[in-house]
Amino acid sequence: MRRRKEPKWLQAAKARGGVADEGDFLSRALSRAGVLPPIEAERAIRDGRVTVNGKVTTVVVAPLEPEDVVVVDGERVDVRPTTRVLAFHKPKGLVVDGRDPEGIGTVFERLHALVPPDLRGFGWLAVGRLDRDTTGLLFFTNDERFVAHATDPETKLPKRYVATVSGKVSDAKLETLRAGVELDDFTTQPAQAERRGERQVVLTLTEGKFHQVKRMLGAVGLATLELHREAVGTYVIDVELDALRELTDDEVQGLLGYRPRHLG
Ligand code: URA
Repeated sequence: MRRRKEPKWLQAAKARGGVADEGDFLSRALSRAGVLPPIEAERAIRDGRVTVNGKVTTVVVAPLEPEDVVVVDGERVDVRPTTRVLAFHKPKGLVVDGRDPEGIGTVFERLHALVPPDLRGFGWLAVGRLDRDTTGLLFFTNDERFVAHATDPETKLPKRYVATVSGKVSDAKLETLRAGVELDDFTTQPAQAERRGERQVVLTLTEGKFHQVKRMLGAVGLATLELHREAVGTYVIDVELDALRELTDDEVQGLLGYRPRHLG
């Protein structure tokens, strides 16, 4: 079988080896490691249920060293860094935000309803944003280094969108989308743009500014009727609408170009 050439973004990500580490503190370490979700971790610490090296520590932001021994409710816990990534197929309507003044629902509320019991102790971050009316692939992770990897334009991790549009998808418009579009506040990086059927544009971007796809399409005279994100890196969404699954270490590394922290 012929081996496929490794994409450039993946080679670059491997060569870079991740972003710099930040110091850790007690409550964050507990929720990053999946011991307790953030609010519960803070409560446990304030309530005196957590010891560090044998001493009760009630300071939520107490600094933590890798060799420290942490005990919660009498049990030793493992607070070594780990990377967990969940792929969620976002339905329309949910907002990618902790707050939801319109009361329709947030992706975090859905996540908490769907996440399996063994993953409930983690503090989850959304990786990038999708508009409320956009469907498709949204990652959650416990690892802010993975967020930086996936969202930093320098990583050049491709994000593939399928837009259903009104208007004629001409070759000239596709060419403009590929070359870079001048928007009010910036000019877009070169992108891939293809036609899919009569009314769809498949746009692959390595950056993710606010409403970027809709604004790019608008700039060439195409109004977006529907927007769906179907792939990030070489991972193509494979979960049903409104469902999620955890990616394996091999998928995180091989398809998204990020070495999980627990692999060292
Ligand atoms: N670009 C947009 O315009 N909307 C999204 O949700 C994602 C990318």
